[in-house]
Amino acid sequence: MSGLKPGITIADVGAGTGYFSNLLAEHAATVYALDSEPNMVRYMEKRFSDEQKNNVVVGLSKVDNPCLPEQVDIVFLANVYRFIQQRDCFLSQLFQQIDQNTEVVIVDLDSEQIEVTVDVVMREVERAGFSVHFCNRDKCPSHYILKLRKT
Ligand SMILES: C[S@@+](CC[C@H](N)C(=O)[O-])C[C@H]1O[C@@H](n2cnc3c(N)ncnc32)[C@H](O)[C@@H]1O
Repeated sequence: MSGLKPGITIADVGAGTGYFSNLLAEHAATVYALDSEPNMVRYMEKRFSDEQKNNVVVGLSKVDNPCLPEQVDIVFLANVYRFIQQRDCFLSQLFQQIDQNTEVVIVDLDSEQIEVTVDVVMREVERAGFSVHFCNRDKCPSHYILKLRKT
């Protein structure tokens, strides 16, 4: 991911098993691996403790609130956005918890067969006050990448 500089802090929201948190931890000072599902949080706590990945901090978030523990440089949502049930609340909380310099990166399935298409995502994030400054639909197979900031 471009924009990864030593010393940065990343929140991987909807981290699941921690696949991306593990990779991101190689390029960041701290990665917060957050998920709203307690079983995934327990799984990651064990995983990162066993692997002695000391710069990954696992935490429980809420379905309508990313619960960022501090100001971070990047908020990363991979394969999560389309599963978020209360997206208006979630985006409003996210907006309040970041500053103008935080980059929000959304990677998700690019398909017309799903309800939450990339056009829906763009509409929703812009309504919540974010501006999309990067959109790529070719880089990852079947996935789009969006980068946003607070307007
Ligand atoms: C398909 S998995 C993706 C996991 C990981 N990001 C990856 O790409 O390997 C989706 C994850 O998002 C989590 N999730 C769903 N809605 C969420 C929400 N509102 N807030 C935080 N996590 C959420 C689920 O519990 C699940 O672990």
